[in-house]
Amino acid sequence: MCSPCPALAAAAVTPGPANRRRGSHRPAVSAQDGSMSTASVPTLALNNGTSIPQLGFGTFKIPPEQTRDLVTVALETGYRHLDTAQMYRNERGVGDAIAAAGLPRDELFVTTKLNNAFHAHDDALAAFDRSLDELQLDHVDLFLIHWPLPAVDRYVEAWGALEEIYRSGRARAIGVSNFEPRHLRRLLAETTVVPAVNQVEVHPWLGNEEVRAVDAEHDIVTEAWSPLGRGRVLEDPTIARIAADHDRTPAQVVLRWHVERGDVVFPKSVTPARIAENFGLFDFTLSDADMADITGLDRGERIGSHPEEMNDTGR
Ligand SMILES: NC(=O)c1ccc[n+]([C@@H]2O[C@H](COP(=O)([O-])OP(=O)(O)OC[C@H]3O[C@@H](n4cnc5c(N)ncnc54)[C@H](OP(=O)(O)O)[C@@H]3O)[C@@H](O)[C@H]2O)c1
Repeated sequence: MCSPCPALAAAAVTPGPANRRRGSHRPAVSAQDGSMSTASVPTLALNNGTSIPQLGFGTFKIPPEQTRDLVTVALETGYRHLDTAQMYRNERGVGDAIAAAGLPRDELFVTTKLNNAFHAHDDALAAFDRSLDELQLDHVDLFLIHWPLPAVDRYVEAWGALEEIYRSGRARAIGVSNFEPRHLRRLLAETTVVPAVNQVEVHPWLGNEEVRAVDAEHDIVTEAWSPLGRGRVLEDPTIARIAADHDRTPAQVVLRWHVERGDVVFPKSVTPARIAENFGLFDFTLSDADMADITGLDRGERIGSHPEEMNDTGR
């Protein structure tokens, strides 16, 4: 472990944005090869008193017809946190896998996100109902506005719908995704519920430090999407060197870096061996020098759209 690793060391004493309280999730797979061990996925406290497993399984670009089987692999591996979205068109497969697994509902953490087409208040409410139907659940753990769509300028209206859903108990927490500091500040000024999370692009080539700092200032957990840079950062020689030093894979080193920074991650893979590999993060630690070297790779390089430029409603 980075010693003292600020995120981990302080977490033991005080909950809060920079030193969040951790708990253990459940015994599961954790070794490099995905074999069973007693290591646990840490949880982070959210600002409304609920908690979130720090590692989940991402489902963007998993084809609908493969989703049930791959989510089943993830659940069998030990993942209990699933990240989907209305726009991924695979909520039904996620729900089918959950139903087939027969796990206690309170062991699962399920996130979905509002389709860009439905920022109007009544559209957002109706879309959320459809998500529950697809997922075959009576509530989700987290519901997010997927993109702020600044040119559309209806994210405050959409947030009003999410607040109603939250108050109804059908989402245990609500949050945002791809919100830049100015979008967050506007929500904080004009609405009531502080988002529990902000899900934004973060990986070694894009530290997104300003957004992470504003999130932390408001006790909003940062979720790092494309945590592996869609696989591109895994070729980086610095990451390859650190992986060799620890006898780990590049993906494990990158995911461990995110975890030690205090972000939530949900790597996606359609490859069962990688799904297991990406779960093996909790039986090794990185040194302060490793952490600094990976953080130093930041070159402001995005893989996805800049949130100020994404205004596609799909309509
Ligand atoms: N809110 C948003 O706007 C937003 C945007 C993008 C993503 N997300 C969420 O974040 C999740 C993760 O992001 P992502 O899917 O874009 O990218 P990612 O998880 O960074 O990378 C996925 C890619 O890396 C490969 N990969 C996975 N594990 C690997 C390993 N151990 N070794 C080598 N390659 C590996 C996968 O290949 P294979 O699949 O071929 O194995 C896939 O091509 C998404 O699934 C989604 O849930 C949210």
